Amino acid sequence: MRRKDLFSITAPLWDRIRYHKRSYYPPVRFAGRRELPETILQTRLEELKRAARRSGKPQIEIFRSIATAIDEKDLYTRGHSERVTRFSVEIAKVLAVPEDEIERIRIGALIHDIGKLMIDSRILNKPSPLTSSEYEVMKTHTTSGYEMLKHIPQMEDILPGAQSHHEKLDGSGYPQGLRGDEIPKIARIITVADCFDAMTTTRPYRNSTPVELALRIIRSKAGIKFDGSVVEALHEAVGSGRIAMRLEDRIQARHGNLS
Ligand SMILES: [Fe+2]
Repeated sequence: MRRKDLFSITAPLWDRIRYHKRSYYPPVRFAGRRELPETILQTRLEELKRAARRSGKPQIEIFRSIATAIDEKDLYTRGHSERVTRFSVEIAKVLAVPEDEIERIRIGALIHDIGKLMIDSRILNKPSPLTSSEYEVMKTHTTSGYEMLKHIPQMEDILPGAQSHHEKLDGSGYPQGLRGDEIPKIARIITVADCFDAMTTTRPYRNSTPVELALRIIRSKAGIKFDGSVVEALHEAVGSGRIAMRLEDRIQARHGNLS
């Protein structure tokens, strides 16, 4: 095993030990990084704006880089954005979504948590359940994501991925409490992919849920919290092997507070 891999596996453990020994919040560490995620985000948003001014199509690498910055800041959910993207795209394929729409879903899923870059690292990386006031702060990542992207014309179709991926069919979600078809399709797909990933990866205060059980729990909320057709597409994608939880996913994603 390479030294860097070993460090990325052990770093969260050391942070948790420090948390218990010395401070209330663990320090955020960026293994092998030269730039902070916020700096990367600023650069990438500038690139997006430049591409928008030229009316050119932004490169997918810009969004991948933003996704990496998000996952670097959220120390305990590494790889979350990439996995949610993989799951969302496979769900969309089962649903026979047209190719250009799949491309929007891919970008939307990659940056669905972009607003987390505005959340205090001490809350984002707190290795225990959030208090209600911290949870309220965490919930603002949806509106922060919207605010960051709303001035970029090309992001119009992708915005709902960042803004509405915590909305629920019955209106119990946030930030707007949208119901049913009021929730854009892109967000309904990302929501299911997001929940599936959150459930099947370990968090600081709970173990991961086995895939079969996670699927059953999600299905029990179909038509109530989640879009029924999206839930069935997830089942089909997992059943047919299009979505497979890989070993490196489990190693990457160990802890976190809110997907
Ligand atoms: Fe989120």
